[in-house]
Amino acid sequence: MVIKLGGAAVGDEDAALDFVAERAEAADAIVVVHGGGPLVDEWSKRLGIETRFEDGLRVTDERTRDVALAVLAGLANKRVVAALSRRRVDAVGISGVDAGLLIVDRAAPSLGFVGRVRAVRPKVIDALLEARLVPVVAPAAVASSGGELLNVNADEAAGAIAAGIGARLLLFVTDVNGVQDRNGRRIARLDAETIRRLRAERVVSGGMLPKLEAALVAAAEGCVAAIVGARDRSGLRALAEGRQAGTMVSAG
Ligand SMILES: Nc1ncnc2c1ncn2[C@@H]1O[C@H](COP(=O)(O)OP(=O)(O)OP(=O)(O)O)[C@@H](O)[C@H]1O
Ligand SMILES: [Mg+2]
Repeated sequence: MVIKLGGAAVGDEDAALDFVAERAEAADAIVVVHGGGPLVDEWSKRLGIETRFEDGLRVTDERTRDVALAVLAGLANKRVVAALSRRRVDAVGISGVDAGLLIVDRAAPSLGFVGRVRAVRPKVIDALLEARLVPVVAPAAVASSGGELLNVNADEAAGAIAAGIGARLLLFVTDVNGVQDRNGRRIARLDAETIRRLRAERVVSGGMLPKLEAALVAAAEGCVAAIVGARDRSGLRALAEGRQAGTMVSAG
């Protein structure tokens, strides 16, 4: 399974980290992908760099790219690895750069140094899982043409990795207990058509957009994809056991 730990849930992620440790202990093959939006924002601010988003994606000039890479592949990645090590998980921090894991092109020119994931090359993940290690992937990549380092949205990376390795389950752990309708009530199930409508009606926006797109990419490959709250211990367990929780996304 692939579990994406949202930066928005930092400070609230004990349940999710315990869950990863449980699954690793049970010898499940598990891959962690993490974000780190708030931490990138914090360091950008410290360095006097302005932050702007388009449809949930960070507009990234060269300086922002450098900060995002330093923070995500450095501090954020090592914090997750350390938190898992404290739970006796043999976690190994990598990024989409390592062994060419994420194959990306530049996304829209208006986004700057942002990569769009075209494919994954799972060699490094296969090798780590084979050795019973838990890969912890920071979202960054090298452009396939040009070779420059690019910032990648962590949700998109997680969806592509789940699809690319044929994961059975993809969990987006975040600061909300699922996708909410216009009245703030959790939606149990979503399909592509409903997602399009909610997006047009602006009921889903910002950081939820790349999550749902990535969930659809993985669901199209037969993966069960869900958005679940970082504190929702029982929801995480239910999803691992094939039951429903959070918001589940199906391709149809
Ligand atoms: N309909 C919706 N239901 C729930 N959340 C929504 C909805 N529309 C927009 N959101 C926003 O999506 C946010 C989650 O995405 P966000 O990108 O902030 O977190 P993350 O992906 O977990 O963290 P990071 O981007 O750092 O990895 C929620 O906190 C909420 O503000
Ligand atoms: Mg996000």
